[in-house]
Amino acid sequence: MLRDPRHTLLHMPTPLQRLGYLEAKLERPGLYMKRDDLMEIALGGNKLRSLEFWLGAAKRAGADVLLVAGGAMSNLCRLTAAAAAMTGFDCIVFHNSADNETNRQRSFLNKLFGAEVRYLGPVSEQQRGEAILKAAAELAAQGRVPYIVGDAVVGALGYVVAAAEMHDQVLREEKPLRHVFLAGSMGPTEAGFIFGNALLGSPFEVHLVSVEYGQAELAARVNRIYDDLRRHTGLTVPDLENVPVHYHMDYLGDGYGQPTPQSEQAIISLARTEGILIEHVYTAKTFAGFVDLAVRGHIPEDEPACLIHTGGTPSLFSQFGMFKSIG
Ligand SMILES: Cc1ncc(COP(=O)(O)O)c(C=O)c1O
Repeated sequence: MLRDPRHTLLHMPTPLQRLGYLEAKLERPGLYMKRDDLMEIALGGNKLRSLEFWLGAAKRAGADVLLVAGGAMSNLCRLTAAAAAMTGFDCIVFHNSADNETNRQRSFLNKLFGAEVRYLGPVSEQQRGEAILKAAAELAAQGRVPYIVGDAVVGALGYVVAAAEMHDQVLREEKPLRHVFLAGSMGPTEAGFIFGNALLGSPFEVHLVSVEYGQAELAARVNRIYDDLRRHTGLTVPDLENVPVHYHMDYLGDGYGQPTPQSEQAIISLARTEGILIEHVYTAKTFAGFVDLAVRGHIPEDEPACLIHTGGTPSLFSQFGMFKSIG
């Protein structure tokens, strides 16, 4: 149904795993995880689904160099650098952080994948955006064709597809999922999944556990991208107020990237029941909400629930200092 060009990177579907050990420990059946952390490229994660569409757009534009920006630990930067190397694009990574030993270590994988890494210093997101536009103009003046990775609507298409993949998997594997949990952050992954779910007639109730913004900001982001997807794809979906989306704000703590006692507990609990790794910034807070709402009966016991593990696992290796009970 989607008209956008897509450069296939991944063998789908990712596993839809029942968390049997966790269910036994919590005495709460019907808990699943969609393993978008188990992808074959660069330790996986949600941005690879988006990259299939960003690469499609870059190729259509005749680009030869990908520009991408993020913090030194950015999952987007790492996965873009890997995908660029695979598909023959040059890649320049811009970090809004200082050029020091810690950040060079954090950005090591980008260099491993052959990207050029530029440190802008601790600038704002807006200044980072201006720097990348300036670099793109300079490259264009040299006869290169740059493509800036990160357009929210194009990226969201990856999770429109993911909703269809998951629905198909649920039917084929006879796993009657009703509730799907996602990290609530910048919005493309969430809005894409919600849009895909709406196209299918809303087989899932979508729960967003905020890891970054307050409810008004998160909802505004999701709304905007949902409406942009409508315009971009030309597809007919119900208005967002008529599709099942729940916002959960109680697991954010002091804000983005700040660990909470619950996120620490979530990481330890999942490691020690299922041997699955999650990290503080995205998946641990989402998992904390998923388990808490399931255990406290906010999700009816006869309605199976699934967390989408969106990856980011490499960050865990630099989060040692965030743990209070392990050291
Ligand atoms: C591991 C991981 N999960 C979730 C997200 C949130 O995705 P989005 O920016 O589409 O809201 C990100 C974003 O960087 C991420 O890296």
